[in-house]
Amino acid sequence: MAKRNIVKNGDDVLRKKCRDVTVFDDKLWALLDDMYETMQEANGVGLAAPQVGILRKVVVIDVGDENGKIELINPVIVSMKGKQRDLEGCLSVPDLWGYVVRPEKVKVKALNRLGKEFEIEGEGLLARALCHEVDHLSGVMFIDKAEELVTGDQLEDKK
Ligand code: NI
Repeated sequence: MAKRNIVKNGDDVLRKKCRDVTVFDDKLWALLDDMYETMQEANGVGLAAPQVGILRKVVVIDVGDENGKIELINPVIVSMKGKQRDLEGCLSVPDLWGYVVRPEKVKVKALNRLGKEFEIEGEGLLARALCHEVDHLSGVMFIDKAEELVTGDQLEDKK
């Protein structure tokens, strides 16, 4: 496994649409492993392939709950329920957070690293992470949806 560079906001690659994954080979598995390592080292809870410069529909998530590591290939949100508004950040947007309204619960259909279809349901933080990462695959970032953006310093002041 190897850590990859995280692309920062302003880079075009974060604004492009990703293509479906069609080949489930060791190159994909290396990407998934690298993305997970990169996310963990950066203390993130989710990472999408465009954030490491790859325009494919690949996502890793780990919000520290019982699901552990979640790998999503070609994910699609199939249902949403309720609403939550909370602070959200992104490893590609350092030192900026924003209040984003997301569904409270979502169901996502995806393929695993072997190409087998599965569904995952998330609520709360996991629902937020699922929506945030799926957005990345179509070039959408949380700063587009945030109602209010705050810096780390401003967050400290609010405490
Ligand atoms: Ni992000």
